[in-house]
Amino acid sequence: MMKKHKPSTVAVHAGRSPEMHQGAVNPPVYHVSTILYPDVATMEERGTRPFEGMTYGRFGTPTTFALEEAVCALEGGHRSVAVPSGLAAITLVLESFLKHGDHVLVTDSIYHPTRRYCDGHLKANGIETTYYDPLIGAGIADLIRPNTKLVFVEAPGSLTFEIQDIPAIAAEAHKKGVVVAMDNTWATPLFFKPFEKGVDLSVQAATKYIVGHADAMMGLVTCANADLWQIVKMRAAALGLGVGAEEAYLALRGLRTLPVRLERHQETAILLATWLKRRPEVLRVLHPALQDDPGHKLWRRDFTGSCGLFAFVMKTSDKKHVDAFLDALQLFGLGYSWGGYESLAIPADQGIKRTVASWNPGGLTIRLHAGLEDADDLIADLEQAFGRL
Ligand SMILES: Cc1ncc(COP(=O)(O)O)c(C=O)c1O
Repeated sequence: MMKKHKPSTVAVHAGRSPEMHQGAVNPPVYHVSTILYPDVATMEERGTRPFEGMTYGRFGTPTTFALEEAVCALEGGHRSVAVPSGLAAITLVLESFLKHGDHVLVTDSIYHPTRRYCDGHLKANGIETTYYDPLIGAGIADLIRPNTKLVFVEAPGSLTFEIQDIPAIAAEAHKKGVVVAMDNTWATPLFFKPFEKGVDLSVQAATKYIVGHADAMMGLVTCANADLWQIVKMRAAALGLGVGAEEAYLALRGLRTLPVRLERHQETAILLATWLKRRPEVLRVLHPALQDDPGHKLWRRDFTGSCGLFAFVMKTSDKKHVDAFLDALQLFGLGYSWGGYESLAIPADQGIKRTVASWNPGGLTIRLHAGLEDADDLIADLEQAFGRL
């Protein structure tokens, strides 16, 4: 039914079953670990299909199922699995499809904790990672080996904002039977439809825009088909990755207003980015929705919008100047996350780790998250902070 509706309608209606909850418009928060069965026969029969309906709290409750159903409807996939954080969703994908002796291709622009997991845990378990240039496109074919099992893409990178040619990468991967996973947190399921572009597994750090209020952690893996879902769900169960009832509820509540919030984040970020481009202190703005951005063509082809997260490069390479600017900000908080209602800023350079595609933007980089405040107030805040330089 959801397939024929537009995303903002799906965000409001998906995963709701008032008839199951005495008419309550929102699914209740199920605080439960133990599920009781009426007799042994039922208990044993339900044990043969533990992931259907409620069998044990860790495998999901109606609150979790509602969240999974709603996110899945927006992503356009087969079925989702909710896990306790965005990073848990990423590591779950890696754990599900890689074993000793396998090889994984990961974009050099990857979220740093994902890289840390590959270089630490995967390596220690005999799984080799090759990082690739985010601009590689169909050239990924040359890096695929007989033991390559997974390609992990993220677009844009959440510090450097390079866009990847995901359809080209996915086409080459699929020719060789390799599964493609994507961190789709930046675009959210609203602005990038992963399964239409060849992705097999889409990760959402729901902690960001889906929760949207900086008050809960949550991750989701959405799978293109039933076979992939079975693999991911089995592994999540084996690892004990159940999610908290309150967190699932908060994520679902956030999802209902995602489309309106995201429009505002998008609009404000573009206003700020355009203003920053004109500043004499700024060398470059990194935002794929700007026409002169190197990733703009691909972004326009594959994405239908942008969010509040972007960066800019200062002309100065003097850290003292950048620190003074950041310390002077009053409305932008200094914080590592994004996707909440509040504006944030971080010095970005320390988090940018590259091993194959060098990244020298010509000055120090600041990442901003445009929150839901008035854009004029945010610009005035940036202006007074530039005045402190
Ligand atoms: C792009 C990206 N992916 C994944 C994550 C991880 O999400 P979480 O903090 O919920 O583990 C983050 C968090 O900053 C992120 O920026």
